[in-house]
Amino acid sequence: ALPKSIKLVEVGPRDGLQNEAGQVPTAVKVELVERLAEAGLRTVEVTSFVSARWVPQMADHAEVLRAIRRKDGVAYPVLTPNLQGLEAAVAAGAKEVAIFGAASETFSRRNINCSIEESLARFVPVLRAAEALGIPVRGYASCVVDCPFEGHIQPEAAADLARRLFDLGCCEISLGDTTGRGHPASIARMVEACARVVPMDRLAGHYHDTYGMAVANIHASLRLGMRVFDSSVAGLGGCPYAPGATGNVATEDVVWLMRGLGVETGVDLEALVSVSAWISACLGRPPASRVARALLAK
Ligand code: HMG
Ligand code: MG
Repeated sequence: ALPKSIKLVEVGPRDGLQNEAGQVPTAVKVELVERLAEAGLRTVEVTSFVSARWVPQMADHAEVLRAIRRKDGVAYPVLTPNLQGLEAAVAAGAKEVAIFGAASETFSRRNINCSIEESLARFVPVLRAAEALGIPVRGYASCVVDCPFEGHIQPEAAADLARRLFDLGCCEISLGDTTGRGHPASIARMVEACARVVPMDRLAGHYHDTYGMAVANIHASLRLGMRVFDSSVAGLGGCPYAPGATGNVATEDVVWLMRGLGVETGVDLEALVSVSAWISACLGRPPASRVARALLAK
């Protein structure tokens, strides 16, 4: 049986905008976060406290986090790859953070400049410091089915990383199909392997839509019992260290899917589509979301 509701984690302002070539004005980022919360999203990932040399688009992280007008009941997590990031995030008002590792050695080195083993050692002080401050830490696992450099990733490698992040104290493990090459069969094998070592209610699906399979992957994961999904308004995004990968599944597409299935998301689709149209116009292109384009054409 399907659940009555799911939780959506909106990652557009972070995963979406981190990959934009042109600098997006800070005021636009702030307005995007605020409008997404107004549309009913309860978790909006705001930015990344990463090195501006690595990801120039996120250089204004502190300004963005400080400027947003917060809405009651909405969480505004940010990415913090190390203690330096955590300290800067907390100073700017972060109440929830996320660390990010990978199930692929090569991707780990390209994305965060260290091996998987070294990354886990680096996460320990972040988790301890966050715990002391009462700050929940989400853990991302990238490349859970496929890596841009190594190709196919075994479900066991994804499950091993998910278990280790969970054992270190992450409250939720977000399983990233970074390249979007997963399909319902490979995603199901991966989710089942992860759910054998981490409780299903602590797992989230983070599926990029490069090959158009992300909605199908969410449906497959939902049927396996997953209840948390990451998505990006207008399908913005991609990872700067995953060449050729496009954005996350569009939030509009997930809301449309869930509406049809009778599963609550708390999101006002009409308001969301207007956010999608607005941010896409700011970026000078139509929304990648098929649902948004269809509704806007009516
Ligand atoms: P590093 O060069 O190994 O770090 O980078 P380091 O500790 O040797 O420091 C080097 C310099 O970076 C120093 O500055 C530090 O101060 C600075 P310098 O003395 O040379 O002027 N530095 C920092 N600056 C700001 N904030 C920090 C920070 N840490 C060090 N937190 C590091 C290691 C992790 C910092 C780097 O590799 C990095 O920033 N990587 C970020 C990559 C990234 O943001 N990728 C995209 C997000 S992940 C993603 O999109 C996947 C996901 O969506 C899931 C999925 O789809 O699979 C989550
Ligand atoms: Mg991503």
